[in-house]
Amino acid sequence: MAADPLVLGIESSCDETGVALVRGATLLGHAVASSVDEHVRFGGVVPEIASRAHLEAFLPTMRRACEEAGVTLADVDAVAVTAGPGLAGALLVGVAAAKALALALDVPLLGVNHLVAHVAVDVLVSGALPERSVALLVSGGHTELLDVHSPVHQGRQGVGAMRVELLGQTLDDAAGEAFDKVARLLGLPYPGGPHVQRAAERGDPAAFAFPRGLTAAHDLRRHPYDFSFSGLKTAVARQVDAHRRSLEPGAELGEAFVADVAASFSEAVADVLSRKTVTAAQERGVQTVLLGGGVAANARVRGLLAERCEAAGLDLRVPPLRLCTDNGAMVAALGALVLADGLGPSPLELATDPGLPVSTIIV
Ligand code: KG4
Ligand code: ZN
Repeated sequence: MAADPLVLGIESSCDETGVALVRGATLLGHAVASSVDEHVRFGGVVPEIASRAHLEAFLPTMRRACEEAGVTLADVDAVAVTAGPGLAGALLVGVAAAKALALALDVPLLGVNHLVAHVAVDVLVSGALPERSVALLVSGGHTELLDVHSPVHQGRQGVGAMRVELLGQTLDDAAGEAFDKVARLLGLPYPGGPHVQRAAERGDPAAFAFPRGLTAAHDLRRHPYDFSFSGLKTAVARQVDAHRRSLEPGAELGEAFVADVAASFSEAVADVLSRKTVTAAQERGVQTVLLGGGVAANARVRGLLAERCEAAGLDLRVPPLRLCTDNGAMVAALGALVLADGLGPSPLELATDPGLPVSTIIV
């Protein structure tokens, strides 16, 4: 039997430059360069800085990935790249590089969906996706609940393509963005998630009853699977303001207060995310839940979701963290699935699409 094609995957939709090599469901090597340090002093990702960083990081990152995989570019059978959604200028760098490689190597170009790639990466860890799964994607840029229909891959072309349905999404801030904004309110550095988590470990999750967005009965009717974190952020801001007024001018918020706010905030986020995800799986009759995105790193989000999935008899799949955050392996994994489905290639005039809908798997 001929070996599966070797797919090179490129990710550049936000602040991580990722390149990876995947054959079938095997990750041979991957490298990631992050420009996050360059964004720290601005308190968020600056698109122009991210684009320039991609440009500088691309070749060294690609070389590292090839070295780790023990392959040369001449071995590559297809080039997959994130075509969207993401930052326009950042996407352009990856897509331009992918086009140049595909043309020079005379191999197919596959412009794929970043969100679907977050789901596909799990294939590299746990094997073929089940026929149906509900995926919760939570990162600095996205908060989506997806119903994923995966074809059974039998190594035969055109078996039937993967199909992804958007069940719900955030109406305002992404979950990771909420962590970053709350960190700023508490005087913690960017990116806020890990700092809020560390502070939360010493706090009381029941200290403050922060709101759970879109969980009231009348909201649930219209937005059963949507999220909203702006009310929660405002509630945290009010709490911080009230506490500040009780202090001497210029005094620090205090470690205990910061810990309690961080713990209560994290609890509110984890509660809403896990509740809606488990309900979605139950209501859609789906057995498997998949968690992805940078916020999957959060201990309380993972813990509460695991607890509630277990109570509901659902299987939870969470890829290791390095594959949850943006990387090239997820793009290569989806490229391999797309090839196995007999889809593609994308045209060489492939355009980036910052708002690419999740239902479009390959452009
Ligand atoms: O997936 P990712 O690396 O990049 C994209 O945004 O696509 O996710 C980054 C986000 C940031 O908002 C960061 O604050 C959040 O993930 N994050 C966390 C944790 N680690 C990273 N949020 C909560 N708890 C964490 N431990
Ligand atoms: Zn992402």
